[in-house]
Amino acid sequence: MTSNPAPHTDISIIGLGAMGSTLARTLLERGASVTVWNRTAERAKSLVNVGARMATSPEAAIAASPVSIVIVLDYKAVHEILGSIALSSVADRTIVNLVTGSVADVKALAAWADRADVRYVGGGIMSYPRDIGSPSATILYSGNEKGFREHEALLLKLAGRQAFLGTDVTTAVTMYLALLAYYFSSLGAFLESTALACASGVSAPDFASMVETIISAPLQGGLHDAAKRIAAGDFRGDQATIDVHVDGNVSMQETFTEKGLTSCMLDAFDQYTKIAQTRGLGKEDISALYKACTRGAQC
Ligand SMILES: NC(=O)c1ccc[n+]([C@@H]2O[C@H](COP(=O)([O-])OP(=O)(O)OC[C@H]3O[C@@H](n4cnc5c(N)ncnc54)[C@H](OP(=O)(O)O)[C@@H]3O)[C@@H](O)[C@H]2O)c1
Repeated sequence: MTSNPAPHTDISIIGLGAMGSTLARTLLERGASVTVWNRTAERAKSLVNVGARMATSPEAAIAASPVSIVIVLDYKAVHEILGSIALSSVADRTIVNLVTGSVADVKALAAWADRADVRYVGGGIMSYPRDIGSPSATILYSGNEKGFREHEALLLKLAGRQAFLGTDVTTAVTMYLALLAYYFSSLGAFLESTALACASGVSAPDFASMVETIISAPLQGGLHDAAKRIAAGDFRGDQATIDVHVDGNVSMQETFTEKGLTSCMLDAFDQYTKIAQTRGLGKEDISALYKACTRGAQC
């Protein structure tokens, strides 16, 4: 392993967009020494004014700290940045990559890290910049355990809830993408149903309060019941069958149409129920829609 010069700062942040600049500022506010690099150097100025050290290249940023967070737009940018770096200059450093990408993207970058002798930790930020540093902010990590454990306390300054999901670099990104898919489908459903509520004279805040009551129950109970049924492979339609739900969907869809609204989220749910009916699952529980997503495969 090549021995690089001793680092000067605790952590480096590569990428100072909405998320990267918030990560850097939060670390500075919590007493960490921080090196920053951004393609557009201008964006580093306000951080330098509050104590950040600006690196002149990504290579210098990585050399400056034992651990660097990469938080640029996408993997194209990650490869442009890291691809130009001499591998020997980053050996023995830890890189925490929090850029949103696919499982294939993560695998390719982890292979680069192996060649570079870098401790690679992949992850996903389950929060907006406004929540960074708060107890409810969540960041998932997986990959090189030594790299994570060495910097665990420092990373905890960014998110009150952080989890190391194991040494498989793809685990954190998979969980991150699954949770994002859930979050955005739910948000889409909320926005769509708010349109119906508003068209009927209910204010968006009042409707949000009503939705909160169904999130705590019955949705929470529904999620756990569906999860148990999926795990057990038991989809008996003892509560409400898929056929019953298909009829209910018609009333909802007709009301959206009457109000001149679109209902893409509801239509997607309805499409799943119809796929399930076509597969002969009409008499099963609504959780059997899971089998419509997986083409029948079990969890
Ligand atoms: N914002 C969020 O709420 C949030 C939440 C979770 C995860 N994320 C993820 O965090 C990452 C960054 O998001 P963001 O909201 O900070 O994005 P952003 O505000 O658009 O910032 C993008 C950053 O990427 C840099 N960049 C883009 N293309 C580049 C290239 N070819 N070479 C070098 N640098 C390049 C930009 O540099 P310039 O300043 O030079 O343009 C900027 O620093 C994304 O992968 C996003 O999915 C964001």
